[in-house]
Amino acid sequence: MTRYGDAGAMELRDVPEPTPGSGEVLIRVRAAGLNPVDFKIREGKLRLLKRLDLPMVAGSELSGVVEAVGDGVRRFTVGDPVFARVDKGKLGAYAPYAVVDETLVAQMPKSLHFTDAAGLPLAGLTALQALRDELAVKEGERVFISGGAGGVGTLAIQLAVWLGAKVATTASPRGEELVRSLGAETVIDYRTQNFKDRLSDYDGAFDLTGGQDLIDSFAILKRGAKTVSVAGIPDATTARVDLDAGPLVTAALTVASAKIRRAARRKGVGYRYLFMHPSGADLEVLAELVDKGRLETVTDRVFPFEQITEAFAYLEQGHAKGKVVVQM
Ligand SMILES: NC(=O)c1ccc[n+]([C@@H]2O[C@H](COP(=O)([O-])OP(=O)(O)OC[C@H]3O[C@@H](n4cnc5c(N)ncnc54)[C@H](OP(=O)(O)O)[C@@H]3O)[C@@H](O)[C@H]2O)c1
Repeated sequence: MTRYGDAGAMELRDVPEPTPGSGEVLIRVRAAGLNPVDFKIREGKLRLLKRLDLPMVAGSELSGVVEAVGDGVRRFTVGDPVFARVDKGKLGAYAPYAVVDETLVAQMPKSLHFTDAAGLPLAGLTALQALRDELAVKEGERVFISGGAGGVGTLAIQLAVWLGAKVATTASPRGEELVRSLGAETVIDYRTQNFKDRLSDYDGAFDLTGGQDLIDSFAILKRGAKTVSVAGIPDATTARVDLDAGPLVTAALTVASAKIRRAARRKGVGYRYLFMHPSGADLEVLAELVDKGRLETVTDRVFPFEQITEAFAYLEQGHAKGKVVVQM
């Protein structure tokens, strides 16, 4: 990524092979996942929250094989198949070699190919952290997930079911069969129906679409329940907990999220915008679920690395069913 901007801000270049420092592993990348955050970063939408040192190698998640380890690395040896959601400030997944702190890496699920494993870390960690940690979903609860057919949604439906919930989701007819096969009991076609007219008394909502959907999610919750969003506007909790931000950013996000928080208060429910955090330990949880047959990856399309521009053009249309991945 050479600058902030449109698709032309990313170009294929030769860069030096990185060397692993203390506590880091060098990974020969076999495949890398694409995420909306990658083009939001490229467009400069997150630059107030995270300044990047451009030019840099972009890319948030990968699968590959450990090529070398730095001093003090204990959990990995050369030849291990691994996957990771890389450090948010360093990125680096869109290259044949990447260096990642070992605490962010995990052994790849044994039952997956590199291409499927590459699309799991970012979306999987997001769904796990939102449902298990923020919503604390419990057996028998009813959970609403907007945008169930995308990268995060396809994993979130399955993780909510694993935690014991009954799931309602929104999808177009193109995604309905998929989300039902993953465990969604109620599927609402967002193009012809408003979910707020069909659902009530839900125990929690995980918002993946933002905008009016986020506001409407407050209306379908029990009093005291909560919406966790990854597509709305960050708030003071995001600033404090996820970003470790100073008073200026915290104040700015408090103002920016005021309308949403007011809407939630009026319905007697909670609101929290979550920025997922990279975690090797949480990746181990996901890998175990995959290997036990409890979590299925959904890969929509795999492009050769050289066609990463086309891969982004496809993702940016916003209709991917599951994940878009590039293969080295
Ligand atoms: N804060 C964080 O840490 C974090 C982490 C991960 C993701 N996110 C955000 O979460 C959002 C979802 O990410 P993703 O990777 O799942 O995106 P994605 O894979 O691009 O999502 C595409 C899917 O969304 C569906 N969709 C589009 N508009 C919809 C609507 N109004 N209602 C229901 N479904 C709709 C599309 O279905 P149809 O084509 O059939 O309409 C498509 O299947 C993005 O905004 C992303 O930036 C944030």
